[in-house]
Amino acid sequence: MGVPRSTLITRIGELVTNDKGQGGFAAIMDAALIIQDGAVAWTGPASRAPAADSVVDAGGRAVLPGFVDSHAHLVFAGERSAEFAARMAGRPYQAGGILTTVAATRAASEESLRANLRRLAAEMLRQGTTTFECKSGYGLTVADEARALALAAEITPEVTYLGAHVVPPEFAGNTAGYVDLVRGPMLDACAPHARWIDVFCEDGAFGADEAAAVLAAGRARGLGARVHANQLGPGPGVRVAAEAGAASADHCTYLSEADVEAIVSAPMVATLLPGAEFGTRHAYPDARRLLDAGAVVALATDCNPGSSFTSSMAFCIALAVREMRMTTQEAIWAATAGGARALCRSDVGHLGVGASADLVMLDAPAHSYLAYRPGVPLVAAVWRAGRPAAGAL
Ligand code: NIG
Ligand code: FE
Repeated sequence: MGVPRSTLITRIGELVTNDKGQGGFAAIMDAALIIQDGAVAWTGPASRAPAADSVVDAGGRAVLPGFVDSHAHLVFAGERSAEFAARMAGRPYQAGGILTTVAATRAASEESLRANLRRLAAEMLRQGTTTFECKSGYGLTVADEARALALAAEITPEVTYLGAHVVPPEFAGNTAGYVDLVRGPMLDACAPHARWIDVFCEDGAFGADEAAAVLAAGRARGLGARVHANQLGPGPGVRVAAEAGAASADHCTYLSEADVEAIVSAPMVATLLPGAEFGTRHAYPDARRLLDAGAVVALATDCNPGSSFTSSMAFCIALAVREMRMTTQEAIWAATAGGARALCRSDVGHLGVGASADLVMLDAPAHSYLAYRPGVPLVAAVWRAGRPAAGAL
């Protein structure tokens, strides 16, 4: 079936465009939008909309940019529901749980990893996520990391090499040896598949010098830096990220004043992942403090089988509004344009003319319903690059 050249979506109750450049949330009420050749060709009041080849009547519903999930770990096998249940019964989260998934992932066939990855990507798309980042980090051998990245690269351009997730058992007591592998032969095998390099800089994972060495090696191979920073306690992650010129410091749950200043002055995006605090019973990051200091904040799911097994950006938005003192407008911006900023993408996260026509139509009249009606599946339809991707329309 052919897709019409231009499509007019009209009678949009609230059209979130985020098209003010650096300027944050922006929306048009009683709006219309034209899709042409996969991109946004026109937005404005419905009463002034030009004609198009086909028309979709939004019936007063809200339309938003597709969500940009800038932090996810989707290439893995197995699950850790028993670990989650134990945590909810009082056991603390430990980075070492990652090794359970490493063992399952190494043992899995390429076909089953691909199937699990694609099932999660489809789940995300149905929920309005039209751009997502995907990390390796559950292989931790040269072959297993390269396999994970090649699979991710089949379905997203935002592929992140996370060989420095934890030290695998065969390198126990020899972190320096593993870091040499990560920034040497493993990087050689992985760099061709990846756009980004990431390090879990945390007690129990990698220290400041190790993280800096890994990021520097990646940057020398043309990979952009991003860092798992200050997730489980205070530490050097944010500073290391700033010094490496990272696009984003992710988690940012335990920040000193110097960390907040480093984020603002770098500048780099602070990517907040409230699904992880939900799943580990840690305190939520203080988004208000970051926003009031002038930081650019993104929201993402951190979808992974350990700390945050959610693929729902709507859930993260609701947590950010209720638990992290973000306004509904700030949370929607962070889940769309903020994610795009964290990935250094100007074609997604907004609906300005020329942007990719990645849209979410809600079964609701306003963006605020994503927090106002938590847990309710509100996504009525999704378009990606102008093509209907999910939903009933
Ligand atoms: O972002 N922090 C490190 N990595 C993941 C957790 C991975 C896991 O527990 O399997 C995270 O929370
Ligand atoms: Fe993560």
